[in-house]
Amino acid sequence: MMPETKHSLNLPVRLRRGRRREGIRSLLRETELSVNDFVYPVFVTEGSGKEEPVPSMPGISRKTADLWLKEIPELLRLGLKAIAPFPVVPEEKKNKKATEALNPEGLIPQFVREVKKRFPEMLVMTDIALDPFNSDGHDGIVSDTGEILNDETVDILCRMALCHAEAGADFVCPSDMMDGRIGQIRRALDEAAYTGTGIIAYSAKYASAFYGPFRDALQSAPKAGDKKTYQIDPASRREALREVELDIREGADIVMVKPAGAYLDIIREVSDAFDVPVCAYQVSGEYAMIAAAAGNGWLARGPAILESLLCIKRAGARFIWTYFAKEAALLLKN
Ligand code: PBG
Repeated sequence: MMPETKHSLNLPVRLRRGRRREGIRSLLRETELSVNDFVYPVFVTEGSGKEEPVPSMPGISRKTADLWLKEIPELLRLGLKAIAPFPVVPEEKKNKKATEALNPEGLIPQFVREVKKRFPEMLVMTDIALDPFNSDGHDGIVSDTGEILNDETVDILCRMALCHAEAGADFVCPSDMMDGRIGQIRRALDEAAYTGTGIIAYSAKYASAFYGPFRDALQSAPKAGDKKTYQIDPASRREALREVELDIREGADIVMVKPAGAYLDIIREVSDAFDVPVCAYQVSGEYAMIAAAAGNGWLARGPAILESLLCIKRAGARFIWTYFAKEAALLLKN
């Protein structure tokens, strides 16, 4: 290596020595992203042979179950380990009691049964919340006066979790933010002998504007009001730690911070404070921002995707729910 011709600064410590070559950068790298880090959320719609692109999530489609089942071998070949199905429920099946959430022949239980029958190695993580089925568009039951009813909702969530466990879900994932739901769901599962069905708790779920495209995809936006009476205020941090602590005490196997990119400090604090694994959800709005900027030629899509995910992992997430899962797996392969 040629010495520098001019070395006027007397610097015994030069950190750039660790960055001179890719080889040394690789040896020193503190965090590595791999295909083992991703959960792939998928939008499942009724019927067969149908794929509908989601306009606010360029590159993402709602697909019928048969199309997803056809795609799973490819996902497994790429090394993906887990999918998280979300249902697109037609308006005429929604009502104020969200009864379709408990239908054992509903879109999700049927899909879970098919996936687990044909691809037992693919983990299936199902969403537990009422918003896709509720004509009010809220995660819980809405009273005549517009309140979101906590305990009544928890009862229904327990039955919904049982329905998914019976279908073969590996993990049920309450995303509703009702108080006490983790303990009640754990008890309901155990009483029915589903002791092997795990719970991923959306513990630190914030009332975020970044869920917009997801609500477009599922046509599940609240008809009135917002979700601030149950999801956490984005301004708060200690409250997230309390939520996590409660969910762990109630029996959560894994806890989640959501969204991810704007909440890296919360991911770090939760992972430092508890030994329970923490995952993070890079939500629809985070996907949309990168996809839109890349679509306009303002960002390099691949590198931006991988950096966004790497940084979530660096913050302390053991794994990441991301709509980029398949694309990132491909990027990491090449
Ligand atoms: C609903 C639910 C939401 C998401 C996952 N489960 C939306 C919400 O709370 O309004 C958001 C996911 C995303 O934006 O990608 N319980």
